[in-house]
Amino acid sequence: MSCPITRNLQKPPPSSSSSTIPLLSSLTSLSLSPHITMGFTASDKPLKFLIYGRTGWIGGLLGKLCDSQGIDYVYGSGRLENRTSLEADLDSVNPTHVFNAAGVTGRPNVDWCESHKVETIRTNVVGTLTLADLCRTKGLVLINYATGCIFEYDSEHQLGSGVGFKEEDIPNFIGSFYSKTKAMVSDLQFH
Ligand SMILES: NC(=O)c1ccc[n+]([C@@H]2O[C@H](COP(=O)([O-])OP(=O)(O)OC[C@H]3O[C@@H](n4cnc5c(N)ncnc54)[C@H](OP(=O)(O)O)[C@@H]3O)[C@@H](O)[C@H]2O)c1
Repeated sequence: MSCPITRNLQKPPPSSSSSTIPLLSSLTSLSLSPHITMGFTASDKPLKFLIYGRTGWIGGLLGKLCDSQGIDYVYGSGRLENRTSLEADLDSVNPTHVFNAAGVTGRPNVDWCESHKVETIRTNVVGTLTLADLCRTKGLVLINYATGCIFEYDSEHQLGSGVGFKEEDIPNFIGSFYSKTKAMVSDLQFH
């Protein structure tokens, strides 16, 4: 079962960037932040981003955005479920911020996750939490690309009403295993 709200959306080809702005707003807005200006943090420490998901759609776009804004970045080579490999990345890169655009999304689509539950849990749950734990331990900001596929329209959020879900809302859709793993982490991130 696909995502109830975005099931009709198609991932644009890699060359298209116009429809990516909302997804990547946390990065594109950095230059407007009071704490971070182009290429530097408030303490004048040069930005250095560690990005996971080099081969993926969002991860690839993040690299291009960094290139266009002159932000130094390195793609992580570790695997999310392998804590030692993530620690090695953090130690060698010494980033100011970490972006997690790595996740199991399924091939050819999220239905793959229904028959590959262990792989999906290891990356989307264990892996994401492991990276979050390491970043917390090291006092690093982690920007995690989660998903909107944990919400479905209901009486308070009707299609076309303009009333959307907020990041802190409790997920109301776990009808696919992919969504279920994402909802688990979403639940935990506010604790
Ligand atoms: N696309 C969307 O519309 C959308 C919307 C909301 C949220 N998201 C979330 O954003 C993230 C990225 O989405 P995407 O569309 O860019 O996905 P994608 O194109 O399928 O790319 C996934 C990336 O994650 C990496 N990856 C998978 N398992 C990994 C692991 N265990 N350790 C390290 N890297 C791993 C893949 O690398 P390998 O090929 O080497 O495995 C790949 O680079 C996902 O978590 C997804 O759920 C996507």
